[in-house]
Amino acid sequence: MGWMSWNFFAEKVNEKDLEEMADAMVASGMAKAGYNHIFIDDGWQGGRDNKNKIIADPVKFPSGIKALAKYMHDRGLKLGIYSDAAQLTCAGYTASLGFEEQDAKTFASWDVDYLKYDYCGAPPDSNTAKLRYKTMADALRKSRRDIAFGICEWGERQPWHWAAQAGGQLWRTTGDVRDKWKRKSAEKWGEGIMDILDVNAELHSYAGPGHWNDPDMLVVGLYGKKGPSGDGGGTGCTDTEYQSQFSLWAMMSAPLYATNDLRNMNEATKNILLNEEVIAIDQDALGKQAERKIKNDVWNVFVKSLANGDYAVAILNRSDAAQNFAIDFKELGLDGKYEVRDLWQHKDLGKSKSWKGDVQSHETKIFRLMKVK
Ligand code: GLA
Repeated sequence: MGWMSWNFFAEKVNEKDLEEMADAMVASGMAKAGYNHIFIDDGWQGGRDNKNKIIADPVKFPSGIKALAKYMHDRGLKLGIYSDAAQLTCAGYTASLGFEEQDAKTFASWDVDYLKYDYCGAPPDSNTAKLRYKTMADALRKSRRDIAFGICEWGERQPWHWAAQAGGQLWRTTGDVRDKWKRKSAEKWGEGIMDILDVNAELHSYAGPGHWNDPDMLVVGLYGKKGPSGDGGGTGCTDTEYQSQFSLWAMMSAPLYATNDLRNMNEATKNILLNEEVIAIDQDALGKQAERKIKNDVWNVFVKSLANGDYAVAILNRSDAAQNFAIDFKELGLDGKYEVRDLWQHKDLGKSKSWKGDVQSHETKIFRLMKVK
């Protein structure tokens, strides 16, 4: 969990803004709720020095990355960094191909905790991808610092089949998320929350402790901000839609990394990002990704098994109108009676074998079901 720089700052990332985001993460209560990483994305690099050591842009990062890592560690946070398995990154900055060991050593010497490793500029075949990711994973291990490794080749080579073996702890399953609900048929590109859901939801069997599907960043609270998330038709979502993304990502045990301006959050955004009952579903120790048990144009219903024997059930209304929904939990494979708790209303609804009620357009309800003995 954490906050990633790309959707908000893109290439304009710098140490002052990252420190402010870290302070806001602590002050807002997000750090306490579990958001404990600041991830620097693309644009931090300033080339290589005369010994080929990768360096940070001295204007954006005058104190250097090691000092920034210390800033994070002093506040109980971790620092992520970004590179790419080719000569240049997606935004055209210095990347790590051919310098894997040296760069891993450098990141370790800076006390970095996480590496997102992108795939722009690299050849399309799977064998090269596996090799390039493994080379960097091995280099990180050799550096002797515990650096988590995030694989980012957008699901194009079905990384769920090989990324864990190559040394990744998580892998992106799709292209970049845009700040929108769903791609319109006339739009050539730009994946919305629903487009990404439909890919990632099918991959539930591949996720588990230490090897996770990554359906990309949270767009919660961006409200159509200009920048990467605003490209490809990303004109913004409603709070109901942001609440749905958060609920669905939690059901899918996705990494939760916000991208909005943590220094200026409205109440709706805070209510979403700080819902600790929903965060507990995401972070549940069993590490199971929800299964989508009902899937049609209007309703998607997900069930996630939890470590203490409870179940999380999420009900999404994909249609453009409010609808009434009724379900016997038995239809989801859940026999018997349950204490039902609504995790958005923070309210116990009593003992039941079923649920019925209204679900707004694009809303996702989440319930926690505790079996009645
Ligand atoms: C790719 C990745 C994004 C982001 C940009 C940075 O598009 O998928 O998440 O890291 O590169 O250039």
